[in-house]
Amino acid sequence: MTRPLEGIKIIDFTHVQAGPACTQLLAWFGADVIKVERPGSGDVTRTQLRDIPNVDALYFTMLNSNKKSLTLDTKKPEGKEVLEKLIRESDVMVENFGPGALDRMGFPWEHIKELNPKMILASVKGFSDGHHYDDLKVYENVAQCAGGSASTTGFWDGPPTISAAALGDSNTGMHLAIGILTALIGRDKTGKGQKVAVSMQDSVLNLCRVKLRDQQRLDRLGYLEEYPQYPHGEFSDVVPRGGNAGGGGQPGWVLKCKGWETDPNAYIYFTIQGHAWAPICKAIGKPEWIDDPKYNTAQARQPHIFDIFATIETWLADKTKFEAVDILRKFDIPCAPVLTMKELANDPSLRESGTITEVQHKERGPYLTVGSPIKFSDMKPEITASPLLGEHTDEVLASLGYSSEQISKLHDAQAV
Ligand code: COA
Repeated sequence: MTRPLEGIKIIDFTHVQAGPACTQLLAWFGADVIKVERPGSGDVTRTQLRDIPNVDALYFTMLNSNKKSLTLDTKKPEGKEVLEKLIRESDVMVENFGPGALDRMGFPWEHIKELNPKMILASVKGFSDGHHYDDLKVYENVAQCAGGSASTTGFWDGPPTISAAALGDSNTGMHLAIGILTALIGRDKTGKGQKVAVSMQDSVLNLCRVKLRDQQRLDRLGYLEEYPQYPHGEFSDVVPRGGNAGGGGQPGWVLKCKGWETDPNAYIYFTIQGHAWAPICKAIGKPEWIDDPKYNTAQARQPHIFDIFATIETWLADKTKFEAVDILRKFDIPCAPVLTMKELANDPSLRESGTITEVQHKERGPYLTVGSPIKFSDMKPEITASPLLGEHTDEVLASLGYSSEQISKLHDAQAV
């Protein structure tokens, strides 16, 4: 099975999550990804939130599979020389250092371009170049606040809320991967590399574009008909937090199922989609609602949408979330159980598709990771373990033409 990115060599100068998520994806699809790490310590996630003493943390192993690890002190002349050689021989360099770090290291874009005009330099920063906050270092939750997610997530009577989904980190990495692949196709046409930059703020905002839609509707109309605030509550001049309301034209809510009193996840998400109204009425034993003018249009339902949800909850009271979905799916009603991480980890369908996959690590043994969410008809990405710190240093140096004597001198020069 050939993997489409075989032959593409990537210098992975990334750390934490945003950059590593991008390069991991490219490694799954066949790219030769060489992770450059500081001798002695490496990527900080190797030691963050460890569950086994002296073994790479899951934070690292789950974001760095299928890569090689090269330890290199790129602030020392010997390390810089190796990095220059690598740049001459590679297709892409990915980095997500703090603002200006690459320049301070002596590798501004102008220099990289001189060394290799075909090089694609891909960078993640918190804010885009020239933004009034472009000097800030940024982590996930900072980006969610800066990108409009926090102000629009949560309940109206609570504070701005962070999503557990890595909208700032992995999402930005995915945007960067699209940018890299686009630049690679562009290079095939022009023969030239280019710099690709993605900011975490922009990537979060891109996922929040329907909230910018809502801001403009609110400016014009003064209300948003699909929000729980309509028609009984108040709107200010900014998009409010809508709790668990559906973001489009389908009102929905998280509803209690049997056992919710003791199980914090005994819920389903229930969507009242317009065309599903008649099946919903039949499913919940309210056939008289189908043609009742109080209920038979979306507009008619909205003023008492929470009464409708309360009636559905009464129907759900003697059904588990799985039983409820099994009934509702027969009526073609869009819904899903609220699944826990434990349920997802053990889901046979996810194991079968490779979305949850078990990997063998040299030191930790087996662990679970999320495999490729992208499925191909002609390729099933094989997920291999993350590398130990410096595991491939000698191999990479030898491939760059270093003799064993030069390699051991380099080790001495970089000893920590
Ligand atoms: N050899 C020598 N020095 C190295 C090195 C290596 N192999 N790898 C990194 N360094 C140096 C850098 O050159 C930098 O040095 P300098 O600050 O003296 O110029 C230093 O390590 C620290 O880099 P920095 O990226 O600023 O780390 P940090 O721990 O202070 O900040 C972040 C971490 C994530 C906040 C910051 O990198 C950042 O804002 N990145 C951009 C946005 C981002 O990706 N956020 C994280 C998403 S998960």
